[in-house]
Amino acid sequence: MMETVLTAENLKRTYTIGQTTLTVLKGVSMAVNLGETLSIMGESGSGKSTLLHVLGGLDNPKEGKVEFKGQSVYGMSAARRARFRAQNVGYVFQSFHLLPELDIVENVALPAMALHSKGEAKERAKALLSEVGLGERIGHRPQELSGGEQQRVAIARSLMNDPDIIFADEPTGNLDSKTGGKVLDYLFQLVEARRHTLVLVTHSQDVASRCTRELFLKDGVLI
Ligand SMILES: Nc1ncnc2c1ncn2[C@@H]1O[C@H](COP(=O)(O)OP(=O)(O)O)[C@@H](O)[C@H]1O
Ligand SMILES: [Mg+2]
Repeated sequence: MMETVLTAENLKRTYTIGQTTLTVLKGVSMAVNLGETLSIMGESGSGKSTLLHVLGGLDNPKEGKVEFKGQSVYGMSAARRARFRAQNVGYVFQSFHLLPELDIVENVALPAMALHSKGEAKERAKALLSEVGLGERIGHRPQELSGGEQQRVAIARSLMNDPDIIFADEPTGNLDSKTGGKVLDYLFQLVEARRHTLVLVTHSQDVASRCTRELFLKDGVLI
C-alpha cells in the first residue's frame, strides 16, 4: 500500500499589489506518496514556486490545508514550524542560496547546527560533499565553485538533516543542459539511494520525465 507523506487540500494563494489582486493558486489539492519523485510542471508564471513554497511550509496559503505526516503545517506556531522544517524538509533552489561568507562545509552543515554538535555536523557535511563529488573542494567558498558545483553543495545541504521530503525549485534553471544533467544525476542518485521523497518543480519536460510521476499546474489548478 502506498503511504502518503504530504497532502494539500484546496490551496488558494493570492498576491495583492495596490488595487490589483492576482489569484495564483485557485484550489490545488494533491497527495505526495512516500518515496516517490514527483514533478510539477507549468509555464513560467503559472505559480510553481508559489505552490512549492506553500507545500514546503514556507508560505501560508490564504485558504486550504497542508498536512505533513498527519500534522497541519500551518496549524502550528511559526517557531514550531521552523523547527519542524529543519528536521523534516530539505530545499534546493534555482539560485543555490549559499552563504558567501561561509565555506562549503559550513554551508552544508548549517541546517544541522541547531540540532547536533558542530563537530558532528561538519563530519556529516564532509561525507555528503564527497557524495556529490566535491570531497576535494572542502574549505572552498561558494564563489570559488562553478554553478553546477554550487548546486551540488546545495543538494548536499538539503540532505543534511536526513529529511523525509526534498523540495527542488527549478534546480537546473540557472545551468546549461549538460551541467544541469549532471546535477540531476547526483540529485536522483542520492534521493533514490536513501528512499527520500522528492517534489521537483520545472518547466522542462526532459527534467520532469526523470520523475516517477508528473503533475501539471495550469490556470491555478493541477491537471
Ligand atoms: N511576492 C509576489 N508579489 C506579487 N506577485 C507575485 C509574487 N510572487 C509571485 N508573484 C506572481 O505570481 C505569479 C506566479 O509566480 P511564481 O509562483 O513565481 O510562478 P512560476 O514559479 O511558475 O514561474 C506570477 O505572475 C508572479 O509574477
Ligand atoms: Mg518559479
